[in-house]
Amino acid sequence: MSATEGGEAGARLLAPALGPDEEAEEMSLRPRRLAEFVGQAQLKEHLSIMLEAARRRGEPVDHMLFAGPPGLGKTSLAAIVAKEMEAGFRVTSGPALVRAGDLAALLTNLAEGDVLFVDEIHRLARPVEEILYPAMEDFQLDIVLGKGPAARSLRLDLPPFTLVGATTRTGLITGPLRDRFGFVARLDYYDPAELELIVRRSAGLLGARLDEGGGTEIAKRSRGTPRLANRLLKRVRDYAEVRGDGTIDREVARAGLELFQVDKLGLDKVDRAILEATCARFGGGPVGLGTLAVAVGESPETVEDVYEPFLLQLGMLMRTPRGRVATPFAFEHLGLPAPAGGDGGGAGPLSLWG
Ligand SMILES: Nc1ncnc2c1ncn2[C@@H]1O[C@H](COP(=O)(O)OP(=O)(O)O)[C@@H](O)[C@H]1O
Ligand SMILES: [Mg+2]
Repeated sequence: MSATEGGEAGARLLAPALGPDEEAEEMSLRPRRLAEFVGQAQLKEHLSIMLEAARRRGEPVDHMLFAGPPGLGKTSLAAIVAKEMEAGFRVTSGPALVRAGDLAALLTNLAEGDVLFVDEIHRLARPVEEILYPAMEDFQLDIVLGKGPAARSLRLDLPPFTLVGATTRTGLITGPLRDRFGFVARLDYYDPAELELIVRRSAGLLGARLDEGGGTEIAKRSRGTPRLANRLLKRVRDYAEVRGDGTIDREVARAGLELFQVDKLGLDKVDRAILEATCARFGGGPVGLGTLAVAVGESPETVEDVYEPFLLQLGMLMRTPRGRVATPFAFEHLGLPAPAGGDGGGAGPLSLWG
């Protein structure tokens, strides 16, 4: 493999949209039961109480919304809810539901107790979303037959069901939709110990030979994200098989991750491009999201949903009223001298004029 191919793969490791192959691959590593789902302790506890109570009452569990950056387990949790309720699992997404009729067709085909998972629910078209309100609240579907003055509306009863929504952006969920969820949970980035558990479990499932140090190293560089941990494990396994004897130890993990341009904090090419643009090209900021996105060749949504949350969490970037600002930690990580005082790096979010 040439260096450029490695670079491309590095950039794609965080891609928010999965191809069909990747979807299938992920299925095999997906936790099936709540007990297999690592981390998010508080969320799991709340969920297990809700599920148990609903099971005892013999009712579908309340509608719920999972929010958080890509790869933290929203889809897995939705499937777990269905599994734990021994209910059917139907999957769709905001962008897939173009017309109100698309959703109406899905809803009228639900069986009692089914879990309907709507991924990227913040991207529902308005007329589709409006169908959802009475469906969630009263299990009723309002259909308009015909057009113009002759139009008549018809009300249909739906079987009780559970809607599980997932979103990378709670900020884009409208108030009326949000209010109809009985439970809203935010998934946080995982700590290295949790990621290590996930990597070890996955290595077992994949039959990869992973030693103590190898697991620790991959976990440390996974950006707090289980999906990434699993992807890095697979890439490092390839590397270990081709360049070594197949065993993934600390050295092999390090060398493999270096090849795929994942640095010691788990930052990839795009993360570093964002930091470099902010620090070097824009003097530490503030720089607007749109400008930053153009500078690194990604869409503003991708920068905001996929890359930025982790950089904020690490304390490398800050959001200020005037744009993104790099912190001294970002300069340090890139090996650049931090700007002396002034407007950029050190300026806190509220100290507008020093
Ligand atoms: N808590 C977890 N425990 C174990 N594996 C997880 C966990 N969360 C996510 N994963 C792994 O990461 C992959 C991506 O998770 P997914 O549920 O698709 O994330 P999201 O829907 O939030 O983007 C899953 O296929 C699974 O292998
Ligand atoms: Mg998902």
